[in-house]
Amino acid sequence: MVVELKDGVYWVGVVDWNIKKFHGHEYSTHRGTTYNCYLIVDEKVALVDTVWGPYSQQMIENIQKIIDIKKIDYVIANHAEVDHSGGLPELMKLIPNATVVVSEKGNESIFKHHQENWKFRVVKSGESISLGKNNLVFVAAPMLHWPDSMFTYLTGKNILMPNDAFGMHYASSGRFNDEVDMIEVYQEALKFYANILTPFSDLVIKKIDEFKKLNIPVDIIAPSHGIIWRKDPLQIVNKYYEWATQKNDGSAVIIYDTMWNATDKMAKAISEGLEIEGVKFKLFNMAVSDRNDVLSEVFKTKGIIIGSPTLNNGLLPTIKPILEDLKGLKFKNKVGAAFGSYGWSGENVKLIEETLEKAKIKKLQDGIKVKWQPTKDELKMCVEFGRNFAKGLKSSV
Ligand code: FEO
Repeated sequence: MVVELKDGVYWVGVVDWNIKKFHGHEYSTHRGTTYNCYLIVDEKVALVDTVWGPYSQQMIENIQKIIDIKKIDYVIANHAEVDHSGGLPELMKLIPNATVVVSEKGNESIFKHHQENWKFRVVKSGESISLGKNNLVFVAAPMLHWPDSMFTYLTGKNILMPNDAFGMHYASSGRFNDEVDMIEVYQEALKFYANILTPFSDLVIKKIDEFKKLNIPVDIIAPSHGIIWRKDPLQIVNKYYEWATQKNDGSAVIIYDTMWNATDKMAKAISEGLEIEGVKFKLFNMAVSDRNDVLSEVFKTKGIIIGSPTLNNGLLPTIKPILEDLKGLKFKNKVGAAFGSYGWSGENVKLIEETLEKAKIKKLQDGIKVKWQPTKDELKMCVEFGRNFAKGLKSSV
């Protein structure tokens, strides 16, 4: 269903209830998602972003409910990733004379994604296009989250369309934040930030500071995924600012996998040590945990204790992906430690500690290894290990 944001501005996107894996299969979307795009009918007509390719026809039908699609003058492509630009090829077949507006970096990425010689107009940050009564103003937002990312602002209606920024993967019957369960929305918004935007946190702060200085009125923030912020729209901007500082709640997570339960027993003994010292914690066995959900927990926490047995001189395959994430996402203000069982070569702890170093997670104490199954005394050592970690966690800044 088409939804009006303000007089002459419409949501013409698609709700995807069924997608459970995004980015290929990299990102879990338990609550589905939406591909938001916005039609602005002024003296000129503009469409801001499109949808993922398989949903092109649905978007085209939505637009046709409002106007003759041939009346579109401009298609703003804020970002090349195909969940937003994927609808361009089908759309542009119908409106070959329309202008595709791209950022300076988008000029390369949009073209390379679709390899079509559409009529492009490259806009610099701060440049605007008049639609008649109101203008579209473009603000480059490189690395939020791609080099090409751009925000589009509609004057007069005071609507900011920041593409992925301030969005979340969340399918819902209501389009606006005053129509949905905000606990769910914030869970998904934090997951989106933690898994996608964390490495660019310094840029998030810079962009928000820059934006605040402009002192422009914002009535609505309309991202390209999830709900549209209509009630107190700046709440999500303030939340991003807070998230970008990467403060933590002082808790710990134990992330591990196990073959014959030796490392599992160690994990539980370590957690007992944390509990004795009054540190809140969560345990995640990666064989049965969702990687993106665990990363959301890592984002909130201060201590990261990672365990794996040694397998073929390495680590269990189930633990490796999240170690790669820790290196890539560059979480700040975290401390860590390693543990695990082994049979003969025992490289596990060393390998985990190397990852902590590469991820710039400060090693709080030397790791603990147990040969074959832990004895009662060794489990007591694991409890002590947890207690020491908790004490270090509380005293570290
Ligand atoms: Fe929603 Fe970066 O694509």
